[in-house]
Amino acid sequence: MIYIGSDHAGFLLKEKIKIFLKQQNEEVKDFGCFSEESCDYPDIAKAVCLNLKEGQDKAILVCGTGVGMAIVANKFSHVRAVCASEHYSVKFSRLHNNSNVLCIGARVVGEGVALELIDVFLKTNFERGRHEKRVEKIKI
Ligand code: RB5
Repeated sequence: MIYIGSDHAGFLLKEKIKIFLKQQNEEVKDFGCFSEESCDYPDIAKAVCLNLKEGQDKAILVCGTGVGMAIVANKFSHVRAVCASEHYSVKFSRLHNNSNVLCIGARVVGEGVALELIDVFLKTNFERGRHEKRVEKIKI
């Protein structure tokens, strides 16, 4: 299951991402927001992360920069959120950090780059090996 959420700044991009995910036959659950009316990104990030099951689900959070969403998401001990606007960081966040939440800035990247980031986020698997004990050590 892929959980998705945005604030007002990310709403239009979130809607495009949903179409893309459905075209990929992904099951998507949308936690809002549902219009461009102003709302608070922590409310959305919390709702998504409270529902996300580690090892099973992934999530995509969109706000203006992606930063606020990532700050909130990484407060949850079962979340490893990456905020990125280029391919390399997303790829290695999956390979080395087993990231399970991707945060995107709708005011930073366009639709084309955003969909590329999502593609690599979904297709890249955790490398395990030496990275497993490091990821375990993240928990405090
Ligand atoms: C909203 O103006 C903006 O602050 C928000 O979308 C996000 O960028 C916060 O990190």
